[in-house]
Parts: sequence; structure tokens; C-alpha cells
Amino acid sequence: MSLMTATGVDAAEKIDLIIDADPGVDDMVALLFALASTQELNIRALTTVAGNVRLHKTSRNARLAREWAGREEVPVYAGASTPLLRKPIYAEDIHGKEGVSGITVHEPEKGLAEGNAVEYLVNTLTAARPHSITIAMLGPQTNLALALVQEPNIVQGIKEVVVMGGAHFNGGNITPLAEFNLFADPQAAEVVLNSGVPLTYLPLDVTHKMLTSDARVQKIAALNNNASRQVVDMLNDYIKADMERYGIAGGPVHDATVIAYLLKPQLFSGRAVNVVVDCGEGPTLGQTVVDWYDDLKAPKNVFWVEGGDAQGFFDLLTERLARLK
Ligand code: RIB
Ligand code: CA
Repeated sequence: MSLMTATGVDAAEKIDLIIDADPGVDDMVALLFALASTQELNIRALTTVAGNVRLHKTSRNARLAREWAGREEVPVYAGASTPLLRKPIYAEDIHGKEGVSGITVHEPEKGLAEGNAVEYLVNTLTAARPHSITIAMLGPQTNLALALVQEPNIVQGIKEVVVMGGAHFNGGNITPLAEFNLFADPQAAEVVLNSGVPLTYLPLDVTHKMLTSDARVQKIAALNNNASRQVVDMLNDYIKADMERYGIAGGPVHDATVIAYLLKPQLFSGRAVNVVVDCGEGPTLGQTVVDWYDDLKAPKNVFWVEGGDAQGFFDLLTERLARLK
């Protein structure tokens, strides 16, 4: 198994990170995972986008995760409330009306940062040291696409973009072929794919190999802190939909795999491939077309992760959640 990462960069140095998300249950787990990992991650900001639920709720939920992690110093910037072009879609049937099924939400004390997420991305990435900032994309890629269109030079500040999205071997989870984040804004994904930034995708191909089990969820519950109780209550509700759709005994925690990849890339494997996204109306809208065997000899614009150590992932996630209150 090739254990190279896209940039082949040793993860020993601290990662300057912006997390863009549409919380969403698995986003919440990813945010807690990241906010607890202070030795490896210097989280510059959280930016939010509409996706699983509408923008005001994804933004509130990001603030909630920040509060549970005791990290109110990290700013939260709200971004795009609609996709670039297509009609908005949501996933309340999966994540609940409030975007975090299984728990009771409240209005977090600390509010949003001043200014829009797209403006924050443009200003921060333009001024950043060359190729110094990593961006984790956990929802539709609208904010980053808008920033790239507005100011293409932001690529100078980007070290790597790590995306939860896409599907090839696994098939789709919102249509037969498309994964939700790509289906929700295919044009945004196309802008990012064509931007030339070092791109890594963690698609359903790998997230569906890292499924919860009773034992794995019980280990998180045994941590018996507030963060772990919230995670367990959310997951127990959230995984039902995938368990039913696929007839499996556990569910994926898609977005948290992106954080595990940043912290411990050696848990994962993949290869550099050419990826395009179908932006045409019809049954293949949002499909990621992955040239896994390099038939087209097209430029390899994505490091496509398709393998991973599931137990290693849950052990790392549990160990980090244990650090929270
Ligand atoms: O298809 C899974 C992805 O779509 C995850 O990021 C989930 O949060 C939803 O946004
Ligand atoms: Ca998400």
C-alpha cells in the first residue's frame, strides 16, 4: 500500500489549518477531534457554509462545537448560504432539523466573527506565507470556490486542500453515483479541482471502510465527558440512515476522517489520479469521474484516498475526545 500523502510532507510540524464545514453531525465530530488536537493543529478559523442544513444553523452548530471544546478563541466566519449555481439541497432527513440530531441545541454564548468567510479566506490566504495554510473542506466547496474566483492569487497561501467528498468504487450516497458534498455544489468542486492547488480527497470509498460499531461507540461513551456524551448521542441517531440504506452494522463518520488524515496520514493509502466532476443536469450530476488506472493520461490533480485503518482511526478519535471536558 502506498503510504505517500499528496504533499509527502512530514506531519511533525504544526499544521496551520482553516476548517470549512456544514455542521452536520459528522462535521461536529470532526470539529471536536480537531479542536482537541492542539499539539498538531493551529486552527486559524472555522468557516461555515450551507449544506446539511441552512447557513444560520451550520454556523450556530460550529459555534456549539467550539464551545464544547472550550476553544472560543477560534473565530467562526459564516460564508455562502447558497451553492454557486444549482438549486440548494439540504440533508435534514439525515442530520435532523437543527443539523445535529440526537441532542438538544442551545444558542452558544460567543457569536460569529465580523465579516464573511469568503472575505476572510481571500484576505488570509493572500497575506499568508507561501504555501503555508492547509484547508479542510467538510461540506460543499462554495466558500473556497468563491474566494478562488474573486482572487485566484490566494493559491499562493495554500499548502494543501483536504476534501471530504466524492465517490468512485463505493457509488453515491445521495444519487446512485454522487456523494452529497459534490452533488450539493458541483460547480464549486470543479473550480477547486481546476485551481491547481494540491488536493486530497477522502471519498466514500474510504469513509465507508471506517464504520462505527457498538464497541467503538461504547469506548467513546466510556470517556464520560460532555463532548463524548454529545458525540455518542449524535452518532447513535445519525448512523441509522446509512445502516438502513446499506444494510450495514455501523455508520461512517465521514468528516472526521479528514482530521485523522491530517494528524496521522500513515493510517491511509491512495494514489494520485485525474478527477473531474460532472456538472451536467441529469442522473450523473455531481459524479466524480476518477481515472484510477490512468487510461486518459490526464494531469493527476487529486490524491485519492481509498484505503484506511479503521481501528487506528477510532483509537485516535477516542484518544483526542478524551482530552475534552
Ligand atoms: O456525504 C457525506 C458528506 O456530506 C459529509 O460531509 C456530511 O456532513 C455531508 O456534508
Ligand atoms: Ca459535512
